[in-house]
Amino acid sequence: MSSLSNANILLVDDDQRNLVALQGMLQDVGRNLVLANSGEQALRCVLKDDFAVILMDARMPGVDGFETAKLIRDRPRSRHTPIIFLTGAYEDLPSMFRGYEVGAVDYIIKPLVPEVLKSKIAVFIELYEKNAVLTREIAERRLIEEQLRESKENLRALAARLRSVVEEERTRISREIHDELGQALTGLKMDLTWLTSRLPKDQKVLRGKTKSIFELIDGTIQSVRRIASGLRPEVLDEVGLSAAIGWQARDFQKRTGIRCKVTLPSDSAKLDRDRSTAAFRIFQELLTNVVRHANATAVEVVLTVNQGELLLEVRDNGKGIPDGKFDSPKSLGLLGMRERASLLGGKVDIAKTPGKGTKASVLIPLHPD
Ligand SMILES: Nc1ncnc2c1ncn2[C@@H]1O[C@H](COP(=O)(O)OP(=O)(O)O)[C@@H](O)[C@H]1O
Ligand SMILES: [Mg+2]
Repeated sequence: MSSLSNANILLVDDDQRNLVALQGMLQDVGRNLVLANSGEQALRCVLKDDFAVILMDARMPGVDGFETAKLIRDRPRSRHTPIIFLTGAYEDLPSMFRGYEVGAVDYIIKPLVPEVLKSKIAVFIELYEKNAVLTREIAERRLIEEQLRESKENLRALAARLRSVVEEERTRISREIHDELGQALTGLKMDLTWLTSRLPKDQKVLRGKTKSIFELIDGTIQSVRRIASGLRPEVLDEVGLSAAIGWQARDFQKRTGIRCKVTLPSDSAKLDRDRSTAAFRIFQELLTNVVRHANATAVEVVLTVNQGELLLEVRDNGKGIPDGKFDSPKSLGLLGMRERASLLGGKVDIAKTPGKGTKASVLIPLHPD
């Protein structure tokens, strides 16, 4: 706590002998004592340094103690510095009140009793030091809060960047698989057709072999399509969100046997890539949760796109989301959905209706300001 030893004490008295006497009494308080022999000099001191407490003679020629106190209080730096007036026993009541008006903290009547003076001073020093500790702690906390906010922002930006890189990469790989492998397989099929047409009719074994090669190629074409659209469905980029959601829902029903009723807008204006990607990925995540957790037999999906916003509602008739799961930091899937939506100025609400399953509402504004 050595940094606190800068608790200066200002002693103000026009009589040099009094100053020396005060200095003697406070010697072992162990603080830096600053002496001033006039109100003007005291003012110069408070402009330069901070003081834990000011001890000031009330009666001084020129600017007296009360006047000086007022000026000290007027300065921002010393607005809250405690002032103790030293007054003669003959001071009358009215001048004491004058002192309180300018913000005196205390009076000590002369002649001074060293023990009383020292214990009073000790109280103010303690106060000053506690204040300094508090001020420092507040500043540290502010700094930590600021750093926390910054790192949170960085994390968000990083997560967003990661997501978009993943999305670009998926799109690229999906196209490559679709185009390159698709073309090669089509080429193979054409060559095989050519070959088959030249095979003599009586070559039953060879004809049988080409038939099974045809089947293999067709199966592979199907697989390539499935893998490519699993990475990023073509329909999302070519026709748009509405069609992609319909396609995904049909695929979901086929794979899981869970009935999926979809209501799509009759004409959904083409949304930009960021919004349709976000909504589509959130939709996929919601369906995955239905299969994994809900134990549902039916899902209802409603997509509405109006002038201002996109609203996607997904309701299942399963067991409902357990309490505390929605806000849990461990629910990374839900966290990711909310994060995706909030990056576009939107939100994801999840409601549990007891005995009626889960309902998720995804709202994404189309023109955020
Ligand atoms: N449709 C749902 N029905 C019931 N519970 C759900 C549903 N969706 C999510 N949950 C619950 O919320 C939790 C968090 O979901 P999520 O963040 O996607 O994580 P994960 O799917 O990896 O467990 C799940 O573990 C599950 O308990
Ligand atoms: Mg999940």
